[in-house]
Amino acid sequence: MTGATGQVALPVALALATENDVIAVARFKDAALRARLEAAGVRCVAVDLAHDSLAAVPADVDYVCNFAVVKSNKWELDLAGNAEAAGLLMAHCREAQAFLHCSSTGVYEAAGGSPQRETDPLGDNHRVMMPTYSISKIAAEAVVRTTCRLFEVPTTIARLNVPYGDGGGWPAFHLALMLAGRPVPVHPDGPNRFNPIHEDDIVATLPAMLEAASVPATVVNWGGDEETSIEAWCEYMGELVGVDPRFERTTSTIGGIPTDNAKRLALAGPTSVGWRDGMRRMVEAQTSSPQSGSPQSG
Ligand SMILES: NC(=O)c1ccc[n+]([C@@H]2O[C@H](COP(=O)([O-])OP(=O)(O)OC[C@H]3O[C@@H](n4cnc5c(N)ncnc54)[C@H](OP(=O)(O)O)[C@@H]3O)[C@@H](O)[C@H]2O)c1
Repeated sequence: MTGATGQVALPVALALATENDVIAVARFKDAALRARLEAAGVRCVAVDLAHDSLAAVPADVDYVCNFAVVKSNKWELDLAGNAEAAGLLMAHCREAQAFLHCSSTGVYEAAGGSPQRETDPLGDNHRVMMPTYSISKIAAEAVVRTTCRLFEVPTTIARLNVPYGDGGGWPAFHLALMLAGRPVPVHPDGPNRFNPIHEDDIVATLPAMLEAASVPATVVNWGGDEETSIEAWCEYMGELVGVDPRFERTTSTIGGIPTDNAKRLALAGPTSVGWRDGMRRMVEAQTSSPQSGSPQSG
């Protein structure tokens, strides 16, 4: 598993480590997170995916879950760390039974908030916040698709929507803004609708995502069953913490991108954590032991 110290993959690595031998690949910039993974039995291999050889990464693995992401906003680095690295990792682990590449609904063209299907047009929707993100994630998908066919590695490309949980996420960043008395940026074309997916559901659906791997690659949205909006989750979190959210309407933030979930429902079944329940738990976790939320969507 690459990116195992990240917001999304950390709870997945910890959950998988209870019943599997998990090898985590990252630079391990945060020694405390490395220690936490190692305490759970995860073997940590320090590699800079944008620059280093993969010689230290064991190739004889059953499954690869590629959750690493480079968000430097430097084109060379982000294309190398996201796109080139994904292909090199697939080639390195070409005997794996399945390769899960974590992508993003940030690859879709902004489409006025309508639910996006996997076949809908791609575009540069994160440009206003993160100039390199959408294009390097699209480039990574293209590399993964090619390498899947080249080496016949069964592959799933799963496009995450808004992942969140006790450890944080974009809604936790909104919570932090609200608690600091600052406005939450929202696109003027509101309500800004999304399908947040709780970390429990990411863990629960991961085996089916790997089962769905194929050649050519399976591409599937990875959002929760319930659609909601930034405005709605901020109002709800505000009720929980006793703060009235303020919104700053600005075109300098991304617009809503909800997901069409039919394909994920067919491949992996329903999600189980409703957004209110999941966000209430997140608010409790974040306000009892403050952790920083991710400052951007992805
Ligand atoms: N968070 C979201 O809202 C969101 C939404 C949609 C999709 N996604 C996708 O979900 C996946 C995980 O995202 P995340 O939010 O969990 O990311 P994150 O919190 O920023 O974590 C990134 C991970 O990648 C590792 N990494 C970064 N640069 C690296 C490098 N050069 N070499 C090796 N490892 C490196 C980091 O560890 P080190 O820094 O220690 O190397 C960390 O483990 C990504 O594919 C992302 O595009 C996220």
